[in-house]
Amino acid sequence: MSEKLWGGRFEKSTDEMINDFQASINFDKRMYREDIEGSTAHAKMLAAQGIISDDDAKKICAGLQKILEQIDAGEFKFSVALEDIHMNVEKALTDMIGEAGGRLHTARSRNDQVALDTHLYMRRQVREIQKLIIALQTELINAAEKNRDVILPGYTHLQRAQPILFAHHLLAYFAMLQRDYSRFSGVYERADMMPLGAGALAGTTFPINREFVAHELNFGAVYANSLDAVSDRDYLMEFLSAASILMVHLSRLSEEIIMWCSREFSFVELDDAHCTGSSMMPQKKNPDVPELVRGKSGRVIGHLMALLTTVKALPLAYNKDLQEDKEGVFDALDTVKFSLAVFAQIVAGMKVRRDNMRRAVEEDFSNATDLADYLVKKNLPFRQAHAVSGKLVHHCIERGIYLKDLSLDEYKSFSPLFEADIFDAITPETCVAARNSLGGTSPQQVDAQIKAARLWISER
Ligand code: ARG
Repeated sequence: MSEKLWGGRFEKSTDEMINDFQASINFDKRMYREDIEGSTAHAKMLAAQGIISDDDAKKICAGLQKILEQIDAGEFKFSVALEDIHMNVEKALTDMIGEAGGRLHTARSRNDQVALDTHLYMRRQVREIQKLIIALQTELINAAEKNRDVILPGYTHLQRAQPILFAHHLLAYFAMLQRDYSRFSGVYERADMMPLGAGALAGTTFPINREFVAHELNFGAVYANSLDAVSDRDYLMEFLSAASILMVHLSRLSEEIIMWCSREFSFVELDDAHCTGSSMMPQKKNPDVPELVRGKSGRVIGHLMALLTTVKALPLAYNKDLQEDKEGVFDALDTVKFSLAVFAQIVAGMKVRRDNMRRAVEEDFSNATDLADYLVKKNLPFRQAHAVSGKLVHHCIERGIYLKDLSLDEYKSFSPLFEADIFDAITPETCVAARNSLGGTSPQQVDAQIKAARLWISER
């Protein structure tokens, strides 16, 4: 006969390789705290409903507490033969307290148990991710404030487009992270649903009280349908998609930092402590961290695709395929948390090369729109103003100079509307200050963004 907790109907014990193949203990053991919390709440409910005795429930809760301490202290021996965290804990409990341990699984299946553990685990993890998002956002605002007057060319098509405040650029990422934060709040809400009591799939014949368990574990809602409760992995798909979008944001910032670190841009320099050298080329200082974050975004997106594909054609209710949800989710969790943490450091340690940004914005035509706008303000239709400005740019390119280098007479030969104030109208400072429309790059708008950002953070 098999020695498994479910071994009754088996004549043979499980093949060793099959055991290894189907066991999940090596990765689901990280949910031990949640498994024990869930079982404790379940035992209390069973006693409150008169399904088991108070005495048995006390023994169960005390035993579970001891097991928690053993695992915390690294003294617990996990067994692959016991498949998963649920049976490892239950077996240890029964070995410790005897018959009462065998009553714990009354009115419960591993199908609703694993769902409960994962919901509890995700709730906790999502909050940690949100804290890390805030920490990175704080560094972005700090850097924006510290470099509040720094101007650089903004780009479209990776061609210099219009002058912007560097702070404005950083705050764009703040805004993306703000939406990421709110996406994770949505994940939290969906994880905050209590599946226990679904049994294997159909509910249970015992007079359980699911609200009691939900209250014990501080859940906001209870799954209304038992089949749904054990089959739902939506909240994990949502988590992976929120994680993927977040990683895409970090990957875009990574890409920019990598470019900015290049000799060609030289807009920023990373702290020595955050870079590595080359084993062959003595001069190298490589931006490995943003490169790795950019690379790891692919991995998280992969986990999202894997889970969507796994669940896509699964019939209700539980199928072992669903055990495949965990490794990808756990890896995505670790990747996102680590990436956010290192990124906060990267931003905090990043030196801004304001002189190089200045040179870039001086030695280009990113003020050509402002030249056209100048004429529009003198009542020339925008299309004509655009043409005049374009001709002036062409003229400068031919001569190897910039708009600020032209004389007033030259300007006047292109349009009689030009006057001496044209020179002031096209300095980077004027160009930036003039974009004072709501959400624009003017110092006034950027200060308002910084203020709103600080307020938002203080409310979290
Ligand atoms: N280890 C399993 C999982 O992660 C637990 C549920 C197993 N249920 C079952 N009937 N085999 O999904």
